[in-house]
Amino acid sequence: MVNQFLYETKLSINKNITKTGNFNYIVYTIKRLKPMHTILVLNSKGGCGKTTISINIASFFACWGVQVALADFDKQHSSTDWLRARPKESPRILSVAAWQENYTIPDEAEYVIMDTPAGINEDELAQLLRKADTILIPILPSPLDIRAAGRLIHDIMQQYDDLPLKPRIGIIANRVRRQTKIYNSLKRFLSKLDLDFIATLRDTQNYITTTDLGISLFELPNWKKQKDLAGWCQLINWINYNKIFDVPEFQDTA
Ligand SMILES: Nc1ncnc2c1ncn2[C@@H]1O[C@H](COP(=O)(O)OP(=O)(O)OP(=O)(O)O)[C@@H](O)[C@H]1O
Ligand SMILES: [Mg+2]
Repeated sequence: MVNQFLYETKLSINKNITKTGNFNYIVYTIKRLKPMHTILVLNSKGGCGKTTISINIASFFACWGVQVALADFDKQHSSTDWLRARPKESPRILSVAAWQENYTIPDEAEYVIMDTPAGINEDELAQLLRKADTILIPILPSPLDIRAAGRLIHDIMQQYDDLPLKPRIGIIANRVRRQTKIYNSLKRFLSKLDLDFIATLRDTQNYITTTDLGISLFELPNWKKQKDLAGWCQLINWINYNKIFDVPEFQDTA
């Protein structure tokens, strides 16, 4: 069953990549990167999609045979609950209860996805930033979320020069309905920032239904996830350090 899902995902992602591209090459490149890559999914604003994005990235890597750990820094442990609900036959994701004081990241993890809580203070932000090779900031197209993101980015930049790993920062527009004024406002806001705007994820029930089942978008049948794959190709290509493939024009499906 899972194999069938993975096979369909592979076919459909391949279709979404250029004529010359082959998604296996992304996986190959992922594997030859440094032994452990840490990805911090961060935004102190609640409900912007940190957990949803964390679990889907973790599952993406797991589906492609990469050893991945999901480190849950949130006392609400939503991403750990998702892992617990995960069907036994789903690709394995290592669980790290990082909200506890003493936690260990398993040595075998090639990717560590860090899901963080809302409402973090300055000290917590400083500690989290120090752990990251890559920072992903999901932002919702809403006036309050755009303002809160402005403050967060300001706070990150204040500390950036002191960070040992000099993480890359990528912005994700999440829960987007394309034909809306507020999405245009979000794009205008992002175009003024000197940061990478890496992906647009549409507003869809797919995330809600999969999260409930302990699975991810990538474990859905092809016909259900087709419209979401272009955004994910952009996101994964960016995480993967370079634009190996030209991702196709985003089909305006939202
Ligand atoms: N692209 C999307 N389309 C539709 N629903 C989404 C999308 N992204 C997230 N959601 C839904 O929005 C809600 C909040 O998402 P999520 O829990 O991932 O946010 P969060 O930032 O982790 O929240 P918190 O700050 O409370 O931890 C969830 O019900 C989730 O299923
Ligand atoms: Mg969360």
